[in-house]
Amino acid sequence: MSCKLISLLLLPLLILTILSEADKALASDKKPQVSDRNMTSLAPAEEGKATLKGRKQTSGCNLFQGKWVFNASYPFYDSSTCPFIGGEFDCLKFGRPDKQFLKYSWQPDSCTIPRFDGEAFLNEWRGKRVMFVGDSLSVNMWESLGCMIHASVPGIATNFLRRTPLSSLTFQEYGVTLYLYRTPYLVDISKEKVGNVLNLGTIESGAGVWKDVDILVFNSWHWWVHKGVKSQGWDFIRNGTSLIRDMNRLDAFNLGLTTWAQWVDQNIDTSQTRVFFQGISPTHYVGKEWNEPKKNCNGQMQPLTGSTYPGGSLPAASIVSRVLSSMKTPVYLLDITTLSQLRKDAHPSTYGGNGKTDCSHWCLPGLPDTWNQLLYAALSM
Ligand SMILES: *[C@@H]1O[C@H](CO)[C@@H](O)[C@H](O)[C@H]1NC(C)=O
Ligand SMILES: *[C@@H]1O[C@H](CO)[C@@H](O)[C@H](O)[C@H]1NC(C)=O
Ligand SMILES: *[C@@H]1O[C@H](CO)[C@@H](O)[C@H](O)[C@H]1NC(C)=O
Repeated sequence: MSCKLISLLLLPLLILTILSEADKALASDKKPQVSDRNMTSLAPAEEGKATLKGRKQTSGCNLFQGKWVFNASYPFYDSSTCPFIGGEFDCLKFGRPDKQFLKYSWQPDSCTIPRFDGEAFLNEWRGKRVMFVGDSLSVNMWESLGCMIHASVPGIATNFLRRTPLSSLTFQEYGVTLYLYRTPYLVDISKEKVGNVLNLGTIESGAGVWKDVDILVFNSWHWWVHKGVKSQGWDFIRNGTSLIRDMNRLDAFNLGLTTWAQWVDQNIDTSQTRVFFQGISPTHYVGKEWNEPKKNCNGQMQPLTGSTYPGGSLPAASIVSRVLSSMKTPVYLLDITTLSQLRKDAHPSTYGGNGKTDCSHWCLPGLPDTWNQLLYAALSM
């Protein structure tokens, strides 16, 4: 084989390696290079229009407004007996000494979340496919759901394949597969003469795989704030026909998400597929947000009390609401931003196994288990 051919074959692999390196950089960032807030003059979206769509389906109860309460029956599983947890989320394995963070359950103000029953889930969705599409926060949620189901059906047979971009976890007796499709921006990155180009207007690379899945859970945001060619994974942005070096990242996210929305509207048959958007997952690098200006998530052992986050809402979450409300496809927003903002205690912090401080991802067991309980609730209510 000629060198040229080999390098052609290796190119996609290389790009994927670069991408996953950049995802690691997310964990190692001391601070997000761009603050999550105050980045833009974008007016806040009409509040909660898209969540209302969700609320209607859940008979008047807003699942996402409530508080954290101590619950001795938590967590759902033991990290050492779940074979699907990637190193970076296995905080107990890497020596996290406090365990209280495992023992909080989310209590909505106006209803109770149904008890998670993995076997009922498998029976209900027998022969079906569930897919998480997005960045490492999708990985977090995908692994969590796998562990929750695995723990509720003792001895269940599984087939687990970790690949890039598509990983899968199959519960064989039920024919249920949980997929993970890794694509941090949802829109395409193409390798071109000028370098890697982030295409705000096209979704082709993974889209064929997403069609015909029974439950789709999309997520994207964290990578849009990465800066520097190495950690962002691209050299140029293509906006319409123009190729540019950079632009306001919230504007870029808005354009990319709008492309995603159009793709969903054109390609998803809602009689076959339920579509969810995993809301914006917050970070806790800036203690000022919760009135501890000298701190970040390190050493945090308790959630914030109450139902509101002192640091306020995230502009990216407004963009998500606005884009979802402009769609003709009903997309259920898993509106996990505020409830997650209250969980400054739930990040790997220094227990992610790589010596860095990670205030972006979440320990497993932990907060993503609640996201999945809410997904389960939304599917069954
Ligand atoms: C955001 O901007 C407003 C108005 O300029 C300011 O009062 C507020 O302190 C800023 N918030 C943060 C978190 O920087
Ligand atoms: C604790 O969690 C379990 C399982 O989800 C639930 O059935 C129970 O009602 C919760 N208890 C409290 C006090 O919230
Ligand atoms: C990107 O394209 C949009 C829509 O065509 C346009 O409104 C915007 O000004 C462009 N932004 C940049 C930075 O090129």
